[in-house]
Amino acid sequence: MAITLAFDVYGTLIDTYGVIAALEKHVGNQAPEFSRTWREKQLEYSFRRGLMQNYENFAICTGNALDYTSSYFKVPLNHKDKEELMGAYRILPAFDDVEKGLARAKKSGFRLFAFSNGSADAVEALLKNAGIRDYFIGVVSVDEMKSYKPNPAVYSHFLRRAGTLGANAWLVSSNPFDVIGAISSGMRAAWLKRSPDALFDPWGIEPTLTVTSLLNLAEQIDQESRRD
Ligand code: 2OP
Repeated sequence: MAITLAFDVYGTLIDTYGVIAALEKHVGNQAPEFSRTWREKQLEYSFRRGLMQNYENFAICTGNALDYTSSYFKVPLNHKDKEELMGAYRILPAFDDVEKGLARAKKSGFRLFAFSNGSADAVEALLKNAGIRDYFIGVVSVDEMKSYKPNPAVYSHFLRRAGTLGANAWLVSSNPFDVIGAISSGMRAAWLKRSPDALFDPWGIEPTLTVTSLLNLAEQIDQESRRD
């Protein structure tokens, strides 16, 4: 059975720091810090909504997190500013290694899916805009389960939707919480360590594989799978 790869989207394929240019206009050289806080709050809100079973889609988490971050940085944003920043989030760029890495993985015979907290519409548009949609068989969104990663139910849902089993499916993600979630749900997982400073959570659950770029992902997964 061909191996399935579930690619996380935000932070893995798509660079959430791509909003920095749009943010500079509002917060100058605080843009990288603003962007980091915005992203951390967005994820925190998704975790909390998942736990509280109070689901709203990921764009709501992103918008609420933007409101929080603008208050935190004491930078008032009017409706137009906010629309512009949310618009920038809908057309974030892919990282440089993505297109080549996906092309190699597809050529090697892996079944490629995008698997995200983002709604299917938002992810489809994002991947199309970045010119990488055609590498994927499909987009699976947690929205179909009205919950968020790392709820085990969303990884099971992915496996059902992709028509595969955990032993034949790898999550590929730069987000340690996502890697730990997938492994705990019986999948394999490659942690994409995009920065040498990135830390993995010390929970005693290790990634099946750690890679530093998507360029050699296919080769490394192939080698790892042959060892079984
Ligand atoms: C995603 O699901 C976790 O934000 C990340 O795309």
